[in-house]
Amino acid sequence: MEKIHAAITAVGGYVPDYILTNKELETIVDTTDEWITTRTGIKERRILKGKDLGTSFMAVKAVNNLLQKKNIDPASIDLIICATTTADMQFPATANLIATECGLNNAFGFDISAACCGFLYALNTGAQFVENGRCKRVIVVGADKMSSIVNYEDRSTCIIFGDGAGAVLLEQDAEGYGIMDSILKSDGSGWVHLHQKAGGSKRPASIETVTNKEHYIYQEGRTVFKFAVKNMADVSAEIMDRNGLSDDDVHWLVPHQANLRIIQATAERMNLPNEKVMLNIQKYGNTTSGTIPLCLWDWESQLKKGDNLILAAFGGGFTWGATYIRWAY
Ligand code: ACO
Repeated sequence: MEKIHAAITAVGGYVPDYILTNKELETIVDTTDEWITTRTGIKERRILKGKDLGTSFMAVKAVNNLLQKKNIDPASIDLIICATTTADMQFPATANLIATECGLNNAFGFDISAACCGFLYALNTGAQFVENGRCKRVIVVGADKMSSIVNYEDRSTCIIFGDGAGAVLLEQDAEGYGIMDSILKSDGSGWVHLHQKAGGSKRPASIETVTNKEHYIYQEGRTVFKFAVKNMADVSAEIMDRNGLSDDDVHWLVPHQANLRIIQATAERMNLPNEKVMLNIQKYGNTTSGTIPLCLWDWESQLKKGDNLILAAFGGGFTWGATYIRWAY
């Protein structure tokens, strides 16, 4: 009998309407459309506007999109995992808010925090519950309102990030489709190069931390870039290697969308042509946990049963990883 795998059987997504273009950023910080395009590949990103709208607002839309597209009863979902770096609140978990709002009345839920690698960590966590039979239907949603922690006076970070959410449904598969393999890694010593200085238990919010603008993303871009290029490419090559996949066998690279140059370096290492690389960084920027499921959302109609996908990400922590999927529908 074929081993039980967790397979993605539905995809949903949501991006806010407001488009923040490079041209508009030129009026906010000292930058140019040309610099942003050549250094990152980003042309525009979506921003969630509106009082008191947090990450869960977008995640709820993405989950509802998934449920409605496949006509799935919300009460049939056993578990929801939300990957996010911008939870609505420190507690409770955003997953619980989403579950209640979407009518997932029989589900339990929790959040996973792994910055830009959050979706891969959450996907593989959800897969364990499906593979071992504990859950029949698991939703994994990656959602981030990065604009809530971006300093729009810092030209090296405000040009990169955007807001968005993507969701997938995991179900059992006994026919050889689904999540086949995964490599997940982390190195906590990388925190110094990419973090949010205040707002946690180490440096709780105070007048001083707000005045010093310590609730925004702090990133040493060049250092993070070097780690990202090496580790994302290494892990993608490793997962191909250990599964005996040649470049011809891989139909799609689904990379975290942080920087076009990082994605190109990964694709080159895998010897994949541009046509096999999912790329929507130009229109959404880096939505952190949202990038990979938003790629699947944008490309869903082009995917065929049996396609081999390599998902790859690198993010704060440092965290990185790659997942090999045989597409199930
Ligand atoms: N417009 C114009 N000039 C700029 C801008 C801008 N928006 N931003 C920086 N510069 C300048 C710098 O001041 C610097 O000037 P100097 O040489 O006079 O000092 C110059 O451009 C080069 O700066 P670098 O930081 O070396 O630029 P780089 O090519 O590295 O690009 C970037 C910066 C886009 C941030 C890049 O380093 C990067 O993508 N890093 C990795 C990001 C990443 O993968 N993060 C992980 C995921 S995010 C997460 O986990 C939350």
